[in-house]
Amino acid sequence: MKVRESGMPDEDVWKGFFEPNKILKMLSLNDKAADVADFGSGYGTFTIPVAKIISGKVCAIDIEPEMIEITEQKAKAENLNNVETVLRDFISEGSGLEDESVDYVLLANILHLEGPEKLLREANRILRPNGNVVIIHWNYDPATPRGPPMEIRPTPEKCIEWAISSGFSNPDKYDLKPYHYGIVLSKEW
Ligand SMILES: C[S@@+](CC[C@H](N)C(=O)[O-])C[C@H]1O[C@@H](n2cnc3c(N)ncnc32)[C@H](O)[C@@H]1O
Repeated sequence: MKVRESGMPDEDVWKGFFEPNKILKMLSLNDKAADVADFGSGYGTFTIPVAKIISGKVCAIDIEPEMIEITEQKAKAENLNNVETVLRDFISEGSGLEDESVDYVLLANILHLEGPEKLLREANRILRPNGNVVIIHWNYDPATPRGPPMEIRPTPEKCIEWAISSGFSNPDKYDLKPYHYGIVLSKEW
């Protein structure tokens, strides 16, 4: 089942909302992270920059064949052989990744789904001890140029509450100007 309100605008519009490299640097993603899972990877806006930083591979999961195709083409064009794309519905099927198999899980612009704690628990399951979940989402502000309706848009405080009840701790919050916030939490073990 596709996440509610998770359709994408044209890529030219979408990429104007972020500076992925700056964001990843702020969130301390570096080559100490071997493997990363990107849930709902879309155009690969984060997948591709992540692949260039980490020492292992990034697994980009999306339900839309078009998004997977675009991400694959980008990886090929940049000669990145550490991008693994997975066409899959992570809501009904889970990620398909093994327990304790990644160092970072990226949940970018996706946590407005129904049942966010189920997804956070899946993230927790696949993370290695000391792994991190990274939540990026639209500011809780109706003036942002896009983003889910306010009725279903989570506040950072709500994301932290869900993550803590799903087995994470030590939240660090970041202001990812102009339109987003970021939260990094650690897997409790
Ligand atoms: C709002 S976009 C965010 C894309 C990317 N994370 C970013 O921030 O640039 C959400 C993405 O999640 C994908 N998606 C929605 N429901 C999904 C599901 N059940 N399983 C896998 N991917 C899903 C959509 O196809 C879309 O590409």
